[in-house]
Amino acid sequence: MYAVIINGSPRVKKYSNTDKIIEKFAAGFREQGGSFDIYEVSDRCQWDKAREAFCDNDNIIIALPLYVECVPGLLMEFLETLPKKDSRTKLSFILQSGFAEGAQLRCGERYLQILAEQLGCEYGGTLVKGDNFSIRFSEGKERDKLTAPYRKMGQIFGQDGNFFASACRKFTSFEVFPLPLKILLIFIFKTVQRRSFEKIARQWGCSKPLDYQAYK
Ligand SMILES: Cc1cc2nc3c(=O)[nH]c(=O)nc-3n(C[C@H](O)[C@H](O)[C@H](O)COP(=O)(O)O)c2cc1C
Repeated sequence: MYAVIINGSPRVKKYSNTDKIIEKFAAGFREQGGSFDIYEVSDRCQWDKAREAFCDNDNIIIALPLYVECVPGLLMEFLETLPKKDSRTKLSFILQSGFAEGAQLRCGERYLQILAEQLGCEYGGTLVKGDNFSIRFSEGKERDKLTAPYRKMGQIFGQDGNFFASACRKFTSFEVFPLPLKILLIFIFKTVQRRSFEKIARQWGCSKPLDYQAYK
């Protein structure tokens, strides 16, 4: 199976979490005999080739991060340049985000389903998962651990050609955190996580406390 994969993040490839996710997904897809080409929306020089690939092929995956609860503006601009196709083209999505709860991605997921219809394409489903903030801050084995689950999803897509399998739906994990977990997370954010944010801020040269209010 051949697929065109479009990275819809406005972040350049080197810093894009979506890029690292695509890398693992593509490895799993390749294990099932899949082949693919990847295009980056962040690089405007690739737009013509990406549009051409969209027009000439019938299996398209757009991988994108959730930006302010929906589609990044730059991707939206690219999407507006795409022509309408017919139902011989299948359009599937990998929607990923920073915050972990699946519920906050559902509006974006619905939008993508409508988008596939508006482009005249068959909808191949959306793989939905959050909790990806830290991918680009990690390296080596730690990054591998964070992105590894996408390999299995690539294998499933390589077999089914869509994201409708129950394993893809379960992949989202928590739709909404249960109350005890919320309480635990609040505690972690106020203690361990805060110290880790302070460390990062110091490394980036910040000398003021994280809650410093310059104009108060
Ligand atoms: C401008 C901006 C807006 C974002 N909005 C959301 C959001 O609404 N919900 C969320 O869970 N994550 C949000 N994020 C986090 C990204 O979805 C997350 O870090 C993602 O992995 C980034 O992928 P990328 O590096 O390929 O762009 C936002 C990030 C940025 C930079």
